[in-house]
Amino acid sequence: MRNIFIVLEGCEGSGKSTQLKKLQGHLPEAVFFREPGGTEFSENEMRRLLLSKDHGPRMSAFQHMNLFFTGRADNIREIVIPAHKQGKVALTDRFDASSFAYQIFGLGGHELEAHFESNRAFMGPVEHRPSLYIILDIPVEVGMARVAKRENDKKGTSNHFDTRGPDFHSRVRDGYRRFAEIHGPSVVMIDASGTVEEVWTKLRQTVDEHIASLRS
Ligand code: TYD
Repeated sequence: MRNIFIVLEGCEGSGKSTQLKKLQGHLPEAVFFREPGGTEFSENEMRRLLLSKDHGPRMSAFQHMNLFFTGRADNIREIVIPAHKQGKVALTDRFDASSFAYQIFGLGGHELEAHFESNRAFMGPVEHRPSLYIILDIPVEVGMARVAKRENDKKGTSNHFDTRGPDFHSRVRDGYRRFAEIHGPSVVMIDASGTVEEVWTKLRQTVDEHIASLRS
């Protein structure tokens, strides 16, 4: 039986948080975490640092990349591997595909591609790497309009990535597409511009098929 490790990714405004809640209800036995965040260290120290409006914007893509992978190493060792040892599905809200899309494409750190690959090689044993990436894809203008509406309703919950302009988010979207091209069979792109229920139907089907294929 192969270990199951599912990553949910998406551009800003793709409805990822809503779909994640549905997924948690659908897979109550799975071990969930989020990035940036995860272990106590990653949640309290790394997340604060990475999303800080004072420090985040002035750090280079290289600094971001290293910090995201530092938190990630903690999550693999203390969340993913223990979950797999108990035969459980591990599931995360964002993982290394975000670093590829946001740091390499969004922030323009293209010189970091080799660095990204070598960081991945240190992500722990191969059998604990993601078995499936699901990317919720949405046109930038639709996603950004959703974020703007959410901000209006909730006031001030954005981080320094959310508030970058459409060009940044368009590069992030290109980054996800490139990630999907490179990592082919383990990546599924889902069109997230439909209703919550339409997206959920596709997402649930993708997850159920994946779990069935590895558990059979
Ligand atoms: P967060 O507040 O967790 O919300 P959401 O996932 O709903 O956007 O935002 C995390 C931000 O961090 C998000 O804008 C993407 C960014 N990020 C990176 O730039 N690189 C990474 O490797 C990860 C995991 C996240």
